[in-house]
Amino acid sequence: MRILLTGCAGFIGAKTAELLLEQGHQVIGIDNLNDAYDPKLKWWRLRQLQAHPSFRFVQVDISEWTPTWRVFGEHLPYDAVINLAARAGVRQSVENPWVYIATNTTGALNLLGRQAVWRTEPMHPADVKATWADITKARSLLGWEPQVSVEEGLRRSVEWYLENRDWAKEVVLP
Ligand SMILES: NC(=O)c1ccc[n+]([C@@H]2O[C@H](COP(=O)([O-])OP(=O)(O)OC[C@H]3O[C@@H](n4cnc5c(N)ncnc54)[C@H](O)[C@@H]3O)[C@@H](O)[C@H]2O)c1
Repeated sequence: MRILLTGCAGFIGAKTAELLLEQGHQVIGIDNLNDAYDPKLKWWRLRQLQAHPSFRFVQVDISEWTPTWRVFGEHLPYDAVINLAARAGVRQSVENPWVYIATNTTGALNLLGRQAVWRTEPMHPADVKATWADITKARSLLGWEPQVSVEEGLRRSVEWYLENRDWAKEVVLP
């Protein structure tokens, strides 16, 4: 198979590329080699992959539409696209959330072609089934108390949106 793999210089992406190459697949790897952590590590991983004749590397930022689609056009056809390019650090996501939106949301959307096929896989042991907030601090500092249950809050939000969808769908968020 011919596989486009993003985040190929990353921790998970490089190992995935290595395993795919070992299995005889062709891998076109994309990475922007950003400095979220020391890029020396990324270059080291990349050098291992570049020793393999079935590996091609293209330095591209997936949050940028035009260069990303150029890669698609130049190396078509692909049998699969594996997106492992991501901003993954929790602490950094609070300090600069914009790059997280750019890569994890816009970047992922940029990779979705019209031919995308979604497949739901069984839950992995590391998948998170539910997340929730501890409101103890808001309670003690602000005296805040929830007035309704989460289920009721969700029901009311959806109801409000459906009633106001005509104009609310036009609101542009920064
Ligand atoms: N590391 C883990 O234990 C683990 C576990 C479960 C899931 N994951 C998921 O796997 C994915 C990869 O995680 P990781 O640990 O390999 O992180 P990583 O930071 O080591 O790798 C991500 C790679 O993507 C590249 N990248 C980031 N933004 C990019 C962009 N805009 N364009 C192109 N390349 C870009 C980075 O340069 C990096 O090489 C994430 O979605 C993460 O949530 C990781």
